[in-house]
Amino acid sequence: MAVSYKELGLVNTRDMFAKAVTGGFAVPAFNFNNLEQMQAIIQACTEVESPVILQVSKGARKYANQTLLRYLAQGAVEFSKEINKGKNIPIALNLDHGDSYELCVDCVESGFSNIMIDGSHLPYDENIALTKKVVEYCHARDVTVEGELGVLAGVEDEVSAEHHTYTQPDEVVDFTKRTGVDSLAISIGTSHGAYKFKPGQKAEIRLDILKEIEKRIPGFCIVMHGSSSVPQDLVKIINANGGKLSDAIGISEEQISLAVKSAVCKVNIDSDGRLAMTAAIRKHFNEHPEHFDPRQYLTPARDCLKELYKHKCVNVLKSAGHAWD
Ligand code: G3H
Ligand code: 13P
Ligand code: ZN
Repeated sequence: MAVSYKELGLVNTRDMFAKAVTGGFAVPAFNFNNLEQMQAIIQACTEVESPVILQVSKGARKYANQTLLRYLAQGAVEFSKEINKGKNIPIALNLDHGDSYELCVDCVESGFSNIMIDGSHLPYDENIALTKKVVEYCHARDVTVEGELGVLAGVEDEVSAEHHTYTQPDEVVDFTKRTGVDSLAISIGTSHGAYKFKPGQKAEIRLDILKEIEKRIPGFCIVMHGSSSVPQDLVKIINANGGKLSDAIGISEEQISLAVKSAVCKVNIDSDGRLAMTAAIRKHFNEHPEHFDPRQYLTPARDCLKELYKHKCVNVLKSAGHAWD
C-alpha cells in the first residue's frame, strides 16, 4: 500500500535547501544500508542539531530490502525524537541515483521525500525528458527532485565512465527551467569511491566551473556527489590491521568547505562512512580475535561512524546548529 513521506514524519528538501542557500552551509546526504549506519547518522545529526538527508541507493534497496529501509527511515524520526526530548531534526529520505521512472515512482509510493533522477548518461534531450517526467509525478505529491548534468568519472551503480564530463555552465539555465528540478547535481571533478585521484595528480576540483554555474543560476541549490575525503588516518588504521588500500585519495575537506561557501547546498558522502566502519572493525578484530558477537565489533564501528558524521556537520559542511533555523 502506498504511503506518503508526510505520514512517516519525514520532510522534503525544499525548506532545508532554502536555508542552506542563505545560511552558507550544506545539508549532509549520508548513505545507509543497515541499522548501525542509520543509528550513527541520526545520533550524530541530532546531537549537533543538523538537518539530514538519509540516502538509499538501488544497491542499498537490494541489499537491505526496500520495505525494511523505509521502516528504518520512519524509525529514524522516532529515534531522533527520543534523543532530543520529543523534537526530531528535519529528516529527508532520498533515492540516490534513481535510473528509471518506475523506480522513482516505487520509492515515492514507499515514503521517499526526495528523488534523484540521474539521467546524466543520456543524451541531453533524453535526460531532460526523463527528468521532467519524474518532476511532474513527484511535484504532484510534494516530493522534491534532484537532476544531474555532467558525468562523474568512475562507477555510478552499474554505469562507469573513464573520464569526467564536466557540467557545461551554458546548459544549466535551460536544464533547470525545462525540467523544473529543485536541485542540480553537477560534475566538477569529484567522483565516487575511495580512489578519486592518481598519486601525483593534482587533487583539486574545478571550483571555477562551480562559480560559473552559480552565476547562471544564483540561489539555486547545487549538489555535489562523490564528496568523500578519504581520511588518511582511517586508511592507515585499515592498512595497519590487515587491509590493503593503496593510493586511496579523496577530495580535501578544505575544497569541500569552499564549495559549500559557494552554491553547494547538498553534499553526498558514502565512502568515508565505509572507511570508518572498516577501520574500527579491523582494529577491533586485531585486538580481540576471540570476539564473535556482532555487537562487540559493531559498537566501535558505529561510534567511529558517529564521530565522522559529527565532524562533517560541524567542521566541513557547517550544518550543525541549523536544524531549526
Ligand atoms: O553513488 C554511490 C553511492 O556511494 C552508493 O553506492 O550503489 O554501492 O550503494 P552503492
Ligand atoms: P563518495 O563515494 O565520495 O562518498 O560519494 C557518495 C555519493 O556521491 C553518493 O551518491
Ligand atoms: Zn552519487
